[in-house]
Amino acid sequence: MRTDIVKIDRNNIDIKEMRHAGEIIREGGLVAFPTETVYGLGADALSAEASGRIYAAKGRPSDNPLIVHIAEFKDLAAIAQQVPSQAQALADAFWPGPLTMIVRKNSKVPYETTGGMDTVAVRMPSDPIALELIRQSGGYIAAPSANTSGKPSPTMAEHVALDLDGKIPLILDGGPVQIGLESTIIDLTEEIPMILRPGYITREMLTKVIGDVETDPGLIAADSDRKPKAPGMKYKHYAPKADLVLIDGDEEKVVAKINELTAEAEARGERVGIIGTDETIARYSRGEVVSIGAREDEDAIAQHLYRILREFDDLGVDRIYSESFATPRIGQAIMNRLLKAAGHQVLTV
Ligand code: TXA
Ligand code: MG
Repeated sequence: MRTDIVKIDRNNIDIKEMRHAGEIIREGGLVAFPTETVYGLGADALSAEASGRIYAAKGRPSDNPLIVHIAEFKDLAAIAQQVPSQAQALADAFWPGPLTMIVRKNSKVPYETTGGMDTVAVRMPSDPIALELIRQSGGYIAAPSANTSGKPSPTMAEHVALDLDGKIPLILDGGPVQIGLESTIIDLTEEIPMILRPGYITREMLTKVIGDVETDPGLIAADSDRKPKAPGMKYKHYAPKADLVLIDGDEEKVVAKINELTAEAEARGERVGIIGTDETIARYSRGEVVSIGAREDEDAIAQHLYRILREFDDLGVDRIYSESFATPRIGQAIMNRLLKAAGHQVLTV
C-alpha cells in the first residue's frame, strides 16, 4: 500500500484534504493524525473491523483497549451507559485537552475497540486538525499512539512514517506535537476516581476540580505484584533498542558518574548516548551527548523525550545514560515514561 503524507496547516486547515481523510475512516481505513499529545492512528471506533485493522498495523496485542476520540461532549453520552457526575466538571476544566476518561460503555462500542472490556476510554483532543478529522469521520475515532507496538510514541509525522509506511494509506502531517507525552487517563468507574496513566494534567489539577483522586497502585512500584489497571501500562512500552540507565542524585555527582560509566563502556568498545540538559551538556566529554532542554523547562523536556530516544535508536548506540527529571509539575509523567523505557534501571549517586 502506498502511504501519502499530506501537510496540514492547523491555522488554515484544508477542508478538502480533511474530507478525504474522513472518507477513508468512514470506509473502514486508517489515518494517522496529530493530536496535542502524540500522533494517533485513527479508525472508526464504532466498527469492529476498522478497529481490528489498528491492531494489525501496530502489531498491538488485541487485549489492549483503544481510546475513543470525540469532538463534542454530548457524544460521550451516546457511547456510555451513563455519564458519571465528575465527567461534566472534568470536561469543563480540561476538554478539549490531554485528559482521557474511562466510563462504562454501551452496546454502540464494539468489544474489538475496548479490548474486550466493558468500559471505554474517551478523550476530546485539542489539536484543531484532530477535531476536524473526528467531525469529518462521523464523530468517533479509535486511536492509539501511531507507533509500532513497543516503540516510543511518535511526536512528529516522520516518526509515524518510519513505523507505518506501506501499512496505512494516509498520514496527516501537522508538524511536531505540543506536549509530547500521552494523555492522563482517569478511571471514573471506581468509587474514588483513579489515575491509570500520569500525564500533563496532574493529580493536583484533577483534585482541584473533583476532590479525592487516587493513583493506580500498580503504576507506582516497579516490583509491585499489582497489575496496572490500564492494560497498556503492563507492556514494556517506550523501549529504545539500547540499554537505558537513569542516574539520579546531586547534579555534580550525576555528571561525574555518567562520565565515568561512559569511559568504561567506551573502553569495552560500546557506543554511548547521553541525555543531559542545557546546563550540563558541556561537561560531558565523551559519547553522543544531547540536551533534552533547560532543566526548569518541563514542557521542553516532555516535548523532546521520545524524539531523543528514537534518535539514539537510529544512531545505534549500545547504551544510554540519562539524567533524571523528577520535575515539580509533569515530572511524574516524564519519569513514568523514562522509567519504563529504562526497565526501571536507576542508579542513585
Ligand atoms: O494522548 C493519548 O492518549 C494518545 C493520543 C493519540 O490520543 N493515545 C494513546 O493511546 O496514548 P494508546 O493506545 O497508546 O494508550 C491507551 C492506553 C493504554 O495503556 C490502554 O491500555 C489504556 O489506555 N486504556 C484504554 N482503554 C481502557 C479501558 N477501558 N480501561 C483501562 N485502560 C484503558
Ligand atoms: Mg501507545
